[in-house]
Amino acid sequence: MNMKVLVTGGAGYLGTVLCRKLLEKDYKVRAFDRLLFGSEPAKDLLDRDGFELVEGDITRVDEHPALFDGIDGVIHLAGLANDPSCDLRPEMTERVNYRASLALAQKAKAKGIRPFIFAASCSVYGAGEGELKETSPLNPVSLYAEIKIKTEGALNEMAGASFWPVHLRQATLFGLSRRMRFDLAVNVMVLHGTMNKKIYVLGGGKQWRPFVHVEDSSDAFIAALERAEALSCEAINIGSNKLNYQICDLADIIAANLEDVTLEVAPGDAERRTYKVNFDKMTRLLGTTPTWTVEDGVREISEALAAGSVPEPESPRYYNIKLLKELVEKPATMGGEPACDDFVPFSLPLLGKEEEKEVIAVLRSGWLTTGPRTQRFEELAREYLGCSQAVAVNSCTGALHLTLAALGIGQGDEVITSPITWPSTANVIVHLGARPVFVDVERDTLNIDPDLIEEKITDRTKAIVPVHMAGRPCDMDRISEIADRHGLAVVEDAAHAIGSAYKGRKIGTIGKAACFSFYPIKNITTIEGGLVATDDEELAENVRILSLHGITKDAWKRYTASGTQHWEVVVPGYKYNMSDVQAALGIHQLPKLEGFIQKRAAMADFYSQGLKELSDVVTLPCDQPDIRHAWHLYIVTLNTDGLSVDRDSFINGLKAENVGTGIHFRSLHTQGYYRETYKHKPEDFPNAAYLTDRIFSLPLYPKMDGEETSGVLRAMVKLLRYYSKGA
Ligand SMILES: Cc1ncc(COP(=O)(O)O)c(C=O)c1O
Repeated sequence: MNMKVLVTGGAGYLGTVLCRKLLEKDYKVRAFDRLLFGSEPAKDLLDRDGFELVEGDITRVDEHPALFDGIDGVIHLAGLANDPSCDLRPEMTERVNYRASLALAQKAKAKGIRPFIFAASCSVYGAGEGELKETSPLNPVSLYAEIKIKTEGALNEMAGASFWPVHLRQATLFGLSRRMRFDLAVNVMVLHGTMNKKIYVLGGGKQWRPFVHVEDSSDAFIAALERAEALSCEAINIGSNKLNYQICDLADIIAANLEDVTLEVAPGDAERRTYKVNFDKMTRLLGTTPTWTVEDGVREISEALAAGSVPEPESPRYYNIKLLKELVEKPATMGGEPACDDFVPFSLPLLGKEEEKEVIAVLRSGWLTTGPRTQRFEELAREYLGCSQAVAVNSCTGALHLTLAALGIGQGDEVITSPITWPSTANVIVHLGARPVFVDVERDTLNIDPDLIEEKITDRTKAIVPVHMAGRPCDMDRISEIADRHGLAVVEDAAHAIGSAYKGRKIGTIGKAACFSFYPIKNITTIEGGLVATDDEELAENVRILSLHGITKDAWKRYTASGTQHWEVVVPGYKYNMSDVQAALGIHQLPKLEGFIQKRAAMADFYSQGLKELSDVVTLPCDQPDIRHAWHLYIVTLNTDGLSVDRDSFINGLKAENVGTGIHFRSLHTQGYYRETYKHKPEDFPNAAYLTDRIFSLPLYPKMDGEETSGVLRAMVKLLRYYSKGA
């Protein structure tokens, strides 16, 4: 017989024994295994004819396009293999044991492979009563068992003439394997009895369990493979009627077969999982009956331990849960398990059907650019912000540029702003021929430090542009007071701050004007978009004229029935108007803003609660009375002195954990143009320089679900702990 079998988990505890037996029966074998133990367990198999070992993860089968080539049947053993391992990270269990199993089966089926023998488990009977048969009620008491049941069911749904899944519900395995496990009842009792002369009885000892030796279980898998067509969709218990034991009796037998061993019933609650199983169906349908007794297993394992053929038997790697914990705690960049199953992007917009419909309506209306929907958006913005004037434009950059231009800022003027900002805050000042004069930020708020503003004011200073970083309002009382005293305009860079409030007043109603952004990652989006909010009618009018080439009022209406063909250039303006396609999004996004902010705030709180115990290595956004933070960003500052990695390596580490991040921002005074042109040195703005190398932003957006925020937090905690020098 020359059938070729793919054995997932082929270098594992059962897999190594099964592969050897398959080869002995002249099968060809391709073992697919993550090799957490290296290839050592498969060493004896590697030089045998007909054996191949492919290193890989069942959750990433796509990386192995030739995996199924030449394969006639699949034995699927790979997965997380006991209750505690499955409880460690439930979503990982779902992904590995369920989703990956189905994906594997679908691929096998698509390749025309019919036999698919699935390693199921008797633990599906859970808290069982009486002698349990395959037809008995399933009563799982663990996630491990629940997922085994779900997988059996889903595989059966795929079954048909061209796909034959068979489920082997194994009893608790025991026996010697080249990839040894000591987290199985018989094996661990033999280990402790041999090494410590003491056997611990866990879970009370009264619970029933059936047992089966790995050699006998392997025979059952081979028999099932050979009869798969006739057995399609069958679940078959794998074990022996003679090997059902209560744990305390099992301990007695093992103790009796070793020398000078005492028993100790460990304190703790009685285990809920108890099942005594009937195995007649196995003998009837597979024609195999186990021959190995527990006593045989004791002899075999104790001899191997005495001969020293299990290296470092006390090592945690013989316990799946310990192995898995190590894997989960290790950074993914070093071969550990990523904290998030799927990549969590840094940001995603949340758009609904309303936005979609409105955009289509605009496209069908024939009026695409600035028009009725832009007007409607401005009206909604005025209502929401509580300002008298709102001019919608195509970006916050445009909004800032226009406002400063409309205020007459130009050649030779100076404008004060902070260097921790997006380039456009300063770029637009340069575009106008003026000079951006930086004032350092506060380390805890990342906002302009009001104490340092006055020393930078000269007779050329015309305006202050405070940036409400991340949606946290600047100290507007102090800034306004300074500005008033020196006759300066305050133009707020409120790109992050739609929905923020300072002492009960919404941002957009405090300074001379506030400029908002609706870029896709912002709290609401119009794809690209911005808005100038002000109470100054003349300023708004000038911004509007400048936003559309500097041609006369209502020029946008020139193609409407009520418009006029004649227009006049009154000033050389810009082209920054918002289109109705953009506004179509805005008029549905704005009413959702409050809900979005509440979600963002709840997520920010979740991160802060989860990270607060790590405050020696990470500084979190600070609490501040009298403000409403709009939580556009959740920015943390790494205490790199307490860590063995720098910020960039840390965020690369997060990427490997499947977490996207952003840097908001590298200080402008350290960047090419500003550094060279104004001869800034890093130490000119010490806080901005400090933050430049230490800050980054975590994903925070209403589209995220609880699993994603938990994953991000898990990744942060893992890396902070791992790289903490104090750990
Ligand atoms: C602080 C700050 N100001 C201005 C802008 C420019 O916004 P926009 O992309 O809408 O031009 C941004 C963009 O991210 C920003 O973060």
